[in-house]
Amino acid sequence: MTFQDFINETLSTFNLNKKSTTYLKVNRTKAQQRKLLSIFILIAVMIQAVLAFSISLLDYLRYNQMNIIIFQLLGFALSIETIAVIIWTWLHSRFSPNEKLRLRSLLKDFAEENDILRKHKSDIDTTQSIRWQYYIESNLIYITLYPGGHVTPSRTKEIPQALLAFFVKETRYKWFLEQYHLGDGFVKMIYSHKPDKALTVKGYEDFRQSSDLRIRLTERLDWTSKQPMGLIVGPTSSGKTTLIKYLILAFLINNSKNKVYTIDGKGAYLSQSMGIIGDVAISGNDAYQMISTLEKMMNERYDELNHDTSKDEDVTYHEKFKSGQTLLIIDEYLALATTMQAEDKLRKPADRLFPQFYAKLMNLIVKGRQASIYVIISGQMIPTSILPSEARDSLGLRIVLGRISQVQATEIFNSGLSELPSADSSRYEGLIFLDGLGLEHPIVFKTPFYDDRQLPFKGALRVLNSERCSHRSEI
Ligand SMILES: Nc1ncnc2c1ncn2[C@@H]1O[C@H](COP(=O)(O)OP(=O)(O)OP(=O)(O)O)[C@@H](O)[C@H]1O
Ligand SMILES: [Mg+2]
Repeated sequence: MTFQDFINETLSTFNLNKKSTTYLKVNRTKAQQRKLLSIFILIAVMIQAVLAFSISLLDYLRYNQMNIIIFQLLGFALSIETIAVIIWTWLHSRFSPNEKLRLRSLLKDFAEENDILRKHKSDIDTTQSIRWQYYIESNLIYITLYPGGHVTPSRTKEIPQALLAFFVKETRYKWFLEQYHLGDGFVKMIYSHKPDKALTVKGYEDFRQSSDLRIRLTERLDWTSKQPMGLIVGPTSSGKTTLIKYLILAFLINNSKNKVYTIDGKGAYLSQSMGIIGDVAISGNDAYQMISTLEKMMNERYDELNHDTSKDEDVTYHEKFKSGQTLLIIDEYLALATTMQAEDKLRKPADRLFPQFYAKLMNLIVKGRQASIYVIISGQMIPTSILPSEARDSLGLRIVLGRISQVQATEIFNSGLSELPSADSSRYEGLIFLDGLGLEHPIVFKTPFYDDRQLPFKGALRVLNSERCSHRSEI
């Protein structure tokens, strides 16, 4: 480790909310470390004492009198050093107020208490080592252990639970093991201090504004521009449209320049209400027109972004022009696709709309992010014939509401049903996968509780629309 790395690593432990990965190599037991530290401090104190004594002796020989100031300085330096050592030890102990430093101490202690790093035969033999990697994001504590061959596979399996038990024993906090994954040569674990909670929407104050996409999904999880494209699947009455209504309000309130385009395959509630504030399509033809407009908008935005080739920057359209972001919502995609395909049977192959619609949709999903155009697709089922598996990988936000089948588990999350946690569908819960969070498997998603009677959707849209109109006329 270079000196620069050392400084960076030490400083990074103070950045609690920034995702910065910290590595911790453990190759000495605690007793060995304490011994080493005491020897180091003793030598430093002795050097200072000898120095002070020699200087005062020289003074005495030269001027024939003792210089007391040197001893006073020595006393002062020693007390500063003692205080520094005490503060440092406290900060790096399990009593530290800094979560990362506390974690550091706990991980070291765990390795020793569980004898993962077997006691060395001698102090000189310190070549055995394990490595921890840890960071904290969105109140989740991500820990990876690289045991380096010092732990048998059967013991490796026990580590996530053992570490949880150790944390509970050693600290005053609550700990939850959210997820773990046993890989080749490593164990990844995710812990938290409190279980996630559903949001309750009572009024506008429950939404927040931000310059970039940042929408609260639960107390802990946010939908951000890291996962601009989304998929929501669930049987009838599982809460898809309600979740979409929440996302639309949140998206519009997030930034007053944001725009929503809606395609409602069943021409139901969403199509009636969304006309208040944006464009709506119900028929296959209208949907095709809408997606063509958005694709054109995307291409124009790319042209504008690429216009100035002198600058080598990878920014999104919204970041560069502060234009606001655009969201395309497709509710009941299966119904839309079925209708379009049925209508297509009456057309000549070259005039068929669905293949063209589908190609444009894929284009938006794959390329939309940089043009600040996002897509959310929803439906009771989304078979691979209308959304191929490759497109699913581009959908960084994936939610399944209600009961999940084996086919859905594989298609949507690429996991076996047995690997998935169980959600309580009676409380509109589901499973969520969010890209960029370091999750291996989806986790339980507690949908925001949104009751139309508390905050009428149409009324809210009217208010938002009139706010925008008056804002525009002021400009
Ligand atoms: N998050 C929620 N909070 C409160 N009530 C909810 C929530 N989700 C769903 N509901 C209730 O369940 C009803 C059905 O939900 P919703 O219409 O969103 O389901 P859906 O999945 O869109 O069904 P469909 O496939 O039939 O369109 C809603 O009218 C609402 O009363
Ligand atoms: Mg619905």
